[in-house]
Amino acid sequence: MIYSTVLVLVLALTSPVQEKADKKVDETGFIVDKGLIMVKANCTSCHGPKLIQQNRADAEGWKAIIRTMQKEHGLWQMAPEIEKQVIDYLARNYKPEKRGRRKPLDVPKAWLN
Ligand code: HEC
Repeated sequence: MIYSTVLVLVLALTSPVQEKADKKVDETGFIVDKGLIMVKANCTSCHGPKLIQQNRADAEGWKAIIRTMQKEHGLWQMAPEIEKQVIDYLARNYKPEKRGRRKPLDVPKAWLN
């Protein structure tokens, strides 16, 4: 009990996360948002943050990346609620660009009437 209180305090004091700060970037280049502390704790010991920041994926995609990381690179299992925070953070902040997969077809006007 005392331990979890201390942990919460330590997290609160050391976390740069301000939930309202939109698109603020911290000293490692990560977008400051809820869950970042879990990403840093689990994802930056083997490779730098850049490798993550330069990727884009939706939640499914990030999950697949994490599974690959676990199968092939020795990433440990995360507790489900921690993994969820990591995936939520990544899918929210490093998602594919808003544009659709491809541009709409360029249909000649003559075809439309
Ligand atoms: C135990 C070590 C380890 C941990 C922890 C780890 N990774 Fe990796 N990761 C690797 C290795 C090794 C590679 C391949 C590096 C390379 O290709 O230079 C890699 C590559 C990647 C890539 C690039 C994949 C690609 O196809 O370009 C991404 C994205 C990535 N990791 C994300 C993550 C995320 C997100 C986490 C936390 C959930 C994480 N990694 C934690 C070892 C790790």
